[in-house]
Amino acid sequence: MSAIELAKGIFWVGVNDRETDLFESVWPLPQGVSYNSYLIVDEKVALIDTVKGPFALELVRNIEEVLDPGKLDYLVVNHMEPDHSGALPLIRRLAPNLKILGTEKARGLLKALYGIEEGFEPVWDGQKLSLGRHSLIFYETPFVHWPETMMTYLPEEKILFSGDAFGGFGALDGGLFDYELDLARYEPESLRYFSNIVGMYTNPTQRAIQRLKGLEIRTIAPSHGPVWRKDPSRIVGLYDRWSRMEGEPGVVLIYGSMYGDTELLAERVARGVIAKGAPLRVMDASRTHPSFLLAETWRYKALILGAPTYDGGVFVPIEQFLRLAQRKRLQHRLVGLFGSFGWSGGAVKAMRSIIEELKWELVGPVVEFNGRPTEAELEQGAALGRAVAERVLKGSE
Ligand SMILES: Cc1cc2nc3c(=O)[nH]c(=O)nc-3n(C[C@H](O)[C@H](O)[C@H](O)COP(=O)(O)O)c2cc1C
Ligand SMILES: [Fe+2]
Ligand SMILES: [Fe+2]
Repeated sequence: MSAIELAKGIFWVGVNDRETDLFESVWPLPQGVSYNSYLIVDEKVALIDTVKGPFALELVRNIEEVLDPGKLDYLVVNHMEPDHSGALPLIRRLAPNLKILGTEKARGLLKALYGIEEGFEPVWDGQKLSLGRHSLIFYETPFVHWPETMMTYLPEEKILFSGDAFGGFGALDGGLFDYELDLARYEPESLRYFSNIVGMYTNPTQRAIQRLKGLEIRTIAPSHGPVWRKDPSRIVGLYDRWSRMEGEPGVVLIYGSMYGDTELLAERVARGVIAKGAPLRVMDASRTHPSFLLAETWRYKALILGAPTYDGGVFVPIEQFLRLAQRKRLQHRLVGLFGSFGWSGGAVKAMRSIIEELKWELVGPVVEFNGRPTEAELEQGAALGRAVAERVLKGSE
């Protein structure tokens, strides 16, 4: 997309990335992603963040639609991760007088990633920089998503350039603002972005949200995804809820199955959940990237896990999912368990032990069965589904 004016003299000059298959070489991007960069043209000219390296030329073209990139005075680095700093060396070459502004912690990363020391000027928390008609105020928000992270506030227009916070996956489909886009498509991708990328840093996210409480914010301009102008409180509310790890009253049933035994029971568990009227999502761990499993587990308060025994332990895709949830430190979940075995068993025991590490609360009967589940075992599965659903609905009353 070409440059888009957010307010007089303030432009989005970012790029859409529909090419990268895996963000950070891990997370699938079925709907792409945007790297948002913002240009402020005043007596002094500032660029807030850049884009991923391979898209540097597109960023430069967007800036050129507005002015000669050689006229840049400041590059504000809210975040040093290369999805935002990749084009920094090129911008620096094009703008000989460029001053790079970031927190003191950005200094080390700038040197480590790009060998750049000259031209860096640290800013401090609360510092105000005048550009002419506009000014910028910097707020340190460490670990949303890296230690050097900060946000930049433009008081005259009440715009918060929030960096990764309040961002999401999903390229911008022709529109930039929340009111132009189909949010039903963007919100699940914001949740997947939050849970997998920022998820480990729930406390820093809470601190950042508390810190912003005193600011009057008319527009939230994050470094990925839609710009929130019609209702900035919507994305702040979602990030607030997600970082408190509350979970909506509902159930995600995640199972794996090689030959259909565990799946047969999973179907009956699902019937049990629905019989009690709880919202339910069923997901096959073998065919769904763990980032989607984690996002749904972050969404709902309750989770039911089912897996066969494999090599004496739990089926690998389920173990991978659980380890991801553990890595991202997802807490406060209710969990139901079922699992199958051929001879020694081991799936249920292995899942139980990871769940104990996670301190998730086990709900309902644990259903363990040998091979094809019998009708009695299927009925226990339904009882498990009913128990988890009842519990999650009761908790939400
Ligand atoms: C590759 C493979 C490895 C297995 N390893 C074990 C094992 O170590 N211990 C065990 O009790 N059962 C083991 N089983 C048996 C399965 O757990 C059992 O057949 C189960 O009913 C399969 O459920 P599913 O159809 O949902 O995959 C293994 C099965 C397969 C196919
Ligand atoms: Fe990041
Ligand atoms: Fe990012």
